[in-house]
Amino acid sequence: MDNTNVLEVKDLAISFKTFEGKVQAVRGVNFELKKGETLAIVGESGSGKSVSTKAVNRLLPKKNSIIESGQILYEDKDLLTISDKEMQSIRGNDIAMIFQDPMTSLNPTMQVWRQIAEPIIAHQNVPAEKAKDKAIELMKLVGIKNPEQTHKHYPHQFSGGMRQRVMIAISLACEPKILIADEPTTALDVTIQAQILNLMNDLKHKMETSIIFITHDLGVVAQMADRVAVMYAGQIVEIGTADEIFYNPMHPYTWGLLASMPTLDIHQTDLYNIPGSPPNLLHPPKGDAFAPRNDYALAIDFEQEPEMFKVTDTHYAKTWLLHPDAPDVTPPAEVIRRKAKYEALFTSKKISSQVGGEAIGSRG
Ligand SMILES: Nc1ncnc2c1ncn2[C@@H]1O[C@H](COP(=O)(O)OP(=O)(O)OP(=O)(O)O)[C@@H](O)[C@H]1O
Ligand SMILES: [Mg+2]
Repeated sequence: MDNTNVLEVKDLAISFKTFEGKVQAVRGVNFELKKGETLAIVGESGSGKSVSTKAVNRLLPKKNSIIESGQILYEDKDLLTISDKEMQSIRGNDIAMIFQDPMTSLNPTMQVWRQIAEPIIAHQNVPAEKAKDKAIELMKLVGIKNPEQTHKHYPHQFSGGMRQRVMIAISLACEPKILIADEPTTALDVTIQAQILNLMNDLKHKMETSIIFITHDLGVVAQMADRVAVMYAGQIVEIGTADEIFYNPMHPYTWGLLASMPTLDIHQTDLYNIPGSPPNLLHPPKGDAFAPRNDYALAIDFEQEPEMFKVTDTHYAKTWLLHPDAPDVTPPAEVIRRKAKYEALFTSKKISSQVGGEAIGSRG
């Protein structure tokens, strides 16, 4: 991995017009994506993960979304201001996206192998016959059964899960510079999930693809991510290397997320749950949006929004606890107790990158 930024998101704010008023879905997001790195974005449902990354490919609904501020810089261009035509040539070629919902981006009237082969023919200068072989090979890799026959099928002849795999094959076929994967494997079984995560890791190592990976599964984060951004109520509240986020988390929200992570020996039903619910973004609260749910909240949290405090050159957290005058607070025992478990996860990541990923899929 080198240190070049392939993408820079600056001060991004996005809202939606709704019947109730304006929903401030993304409220001042900053991050950069480096060449060949995987950045995971985590956070509860509704925190703005999908909206901020859809903005990168300009896939937000035109009818009610408003870009309030910000820049998305890719190769000296601001993706928010280039023409639709320029954006079209970037989308799917340079920047590919795998969604939760697969039907939207498949062409219903084209055999699936052609949809997979198209970017291979167009961008890699490969003859059609060879591209067809490669398409069939990719279909096999993403777990589509019997691709020697099914490659001629149309999207409607596949089940939802199989269409999801076709879409993943298309995204991988273009060998994009940036791959945005929005919970790409949540609906798939563990074996196929592991295969797809491996494919993404291969692409990253061979092509220096940069990946933005959105997931609720912190086990997958530990196995995939170089860096992690934690989102809450439309903002990034903590960002750092995977090691920093797992071993030295600073934001009480990150503590809560980590404590609610399933591990091999703690089952979903016994997990910690962060009390309360996120704020209504029609009327974002004054101060720190997490304060009402935060056992460690200080008086100032209810008055003033904290800045992003620097922990290291790579680690930042938006909490008043990092102010020099704040009291010393240690994370809850549960977070400390889990460090040993992450150790195991990170070990499997290291093994998997050496032997090609056999160890992936340790979710309990
Ligand atoms: N088209 C839309 N119109 C109105 N509000 C929207 C629209 N799309 C998203 N929102 C709102 O924006 C906020 C952020 O949504 P987003 O989809 O980015 O959340 P998320 O972090 O991806 O959640 P999840 O983990 O459930 O996918 C939510 O409050 C959501 O209700
Ligand atoms: Mg989402």
